[in-house]
Amino acid sequence: MITGHTKTLAILADPVTHVRTPQALNARFEAEGVDAVLVPLEVPPAALAPMLKGLAGARNFAGAVVTVPHKTAVPALCDALSARAAAAQSVNVIRRRPDGALYGDILDGEGFVRGLEQAGVTLLGKRVFLAGAGGAASAIAFALAERGIAALTVANRSVEKSEALIARLAAHFPDVGFAAATDPTGHDIAINGTSLGLKPEDALPFDPDTLDPGTLVAEVIMQPEITPLLHAAEARGLMIHPGHHMLEAQLTEMLRFLTHEEEQQ
Ligand SMILES: NC(=O)c1ccc[n+]([C@@H]2O[C@H](COP(=O)([O-])OP(=O)(O)OC[C@H]3O[C@@H](n4cnc5c(N)ncnc54)[C@H](OP(=O)(O)O)[C@@H]3O)[C@@H](O)[C@H]2O)c1
Repeated sequence: MITGHTKTLAILADPVTHVRTPQALNARFEAEGVDAVLVPLEVPPAALAPMLKGLAGARNFAGAVVTVPHKTAVPALCDALSARAAAAQSVNVIRRRPDGALYGDILDGEGFVRGLEQAGVTLLGKRVFLAGAGGAASAIAFALAERGIAALTVANRSVEKSEALIARLAAHFPDVGFAAATDPTGHDIAINGTSLGLKPEDALPFDPDTLDPGTLVAEVIMQPEITPLLHAAEARGLMIHPGHHMLEAQLTEMLRFLTHEEEQQ
């Protein structure tokens, strides 16, 4: 039951009707006896800054989940960021500190790599191809580098974004071999970190026919579960890893972040 003691959390999105995080997280709060509630707030971009300023003034506002289209606007509106949020220049969770300061973090990458690890994939020493350099892809790149991959090739439509991402990551992870290139040949894992695959008419983010036999093909897209990329990869006999693993692993990370006090700097 919601009482005056309940920690109030929000998800900030525009539109908000399609989000599934409220049902998923509220069910976890109930199952785990956490006195918190997460409510959907449809916030247009122009209202984001005053909305966050106002929420930070409410002492029982505990934090928020941030999603499309706000993830890249929120870093500038936070008082402090985790290292990975600063590197990805993207935030998908905010915690309100007791003094009203807002601390932003990004869990997309951690959720993605935990999803892979829970499926039995080892990342240490692997050569990884990543399509995309937006918020999700940047966070995934950071988390992969944290796990000690040997090499990361980033391919993005806007090349200046992949090059900027690589420059930020290389400063943190000197032992990883980074490259901005579009050829997915010669990698152990190939990841779609773009929004390509959401719409039936979308082009493939990369050509699975050019992958080495044995390459694992992984997705961030959750709907459809088997995207055209994953279909094509399966048809070639490659192993696949759908996007729902990332969300499931991330819910646990969100629960911990939004209801516990420790912070990753
Ligand atoms: N499974 C999960 O738990 C989970 C979590 C978070 C996000 N996601 C999914 O991840 C996707 C990306 O989210 P995001 O937050 O990273 O979005 P974003 O910051 O807007 O980035 C979008 C990425 O897709 C690329 N892109 C978009 N349209 C393209 C096109 N027509 N051709 C080539 N590249 C294109 C963009 O390239 P440019 O830089 O050139 O624009 C950019 O790299 C979303 O579809 C979302 O559903 C899934």
